[in-house]
Amino acid sequence: MLGLLIHTSILFLLTLSAMTTNTSSTNLPPWLTLPATPSLPTPNSSAHAPINNISLWHALYGPPLTENTIPIILLHGGKISSRWYGHLIPSLSTTFPVIAIDTRAHGRSSDDPSVDLSYALFAQDTIALMDYLGIRQARFVGWSDGANTALQITMDHPERVDRVFVYGANYSPDNVNLPGLQGISFGADLVDRERSQYEELKRDVGLQAGGQADWEGFVARVEAMQAGEPRWTGEDFGRIPVLYEVGDGDAPVVLVAAGDHEEAILPHVPGRIHGMIANSQLAILPGMSHFGPLQDPEMFAAVVTAFMSRPR
Ligand SMILES: *[C@@H]1O[C@H](CO)[C@@H](O)[C@H](O)[C@H]1NC(C)=O
Ligand SMILES: *[C@@H]1O[C@H](CO)[C@@H](O)[C@H](O)[C@H]1NC(C)=O
Repeated sequence: MLGLLIHTSILFLLTLSAMTTNTSSTNLPPWLTLPATPSLPTPNSSAHAPINNISLWHALYGPPLTENTIPIILLHGGKISSRWYGHLIPSLSTTFPVIAIDTRAHGRSSDDPSVDLSYALFAQDTIALMDYLGIRQARFVGWSDGANTALQITMDHPERVDRVFVYGANYSPDNVNLPGLQGISFGADLVDRERSQYEELKRDVGLQAGGQADWEGFVARVEAMQAGEPRWTGEDFGRIPVLYEVGDGDAPVVLVAAGDHEEAILPHVPGRIHGMIANSQLAILPGMSHFGPLQDPEMFAAVVTAFMSRPR
């Protein structure tokens, strides 16, 4: 739900950021900062896959995909692109094949305006890409909207999931922390980045309607999804096979993570999701907000790498 409702509070945020402009950023704790967006490392290869009536952009890193490797698939948050995983890719791709995807409608991927955006559709796209690339099972990292997509994949296609690390997920639109979101001091900078990067990437791949990337239309479609979804209950999470209760290797390992200074999602949410996925793991990462992968990339990469590397 990255960025949800930020636009409606833009005036408030602009006022706030004007007030904080004189604060020296060196004195701020990491969770109150939005460090520079990393660039996406140069991939071994990248391509647009023609799946589900769209063109899904993805990039491959690290060792080659083979029958015996379980690659890592990275799913980014709403209104941004795979670029925001720029700090994580180098650590993971030394050991694992890594696939960075630009979600449908986001980044370099195209949209199909005839269908609403949904986590179920993003999940279908990811499975279709795995089929396209000949990948039977993957390890997943999801952040914010990408975390919700990763959870949807785990509910709908558990047999395709070896393990999944979700950061900043929610299970209901009511989980959004409105005062927390409105209090984000770097909100205006965040929206500027989302917009300028969106326009730049659409221009790079020539995906502009009438010569102009339709930022407003894109935001409306993403926010319509975030306002209505997800609506998961214990029953939905109960579709995930329970680790240690089914045959060894048959159930996904799920780690639910959040920053200890998460400001966009209410504090009870990570624990509640962890409680609804039997035998899942819970990690509260120190010194980070919803934007942890930029605020403490070393800590974030260390935790994800340890989880991905652990024998099952
Ligand atoms: C793709 O388009 C066809 C024809 O309009 C439609 O039946 C199908 O549901 C679409 N698939 C997806 C995933 O949107
Ligand atoms: C991708 O590039 C890295 C670094 O140059 C190399 O070690 C690796 O083998 C390459 N992978 C493929 C699939 O070519």
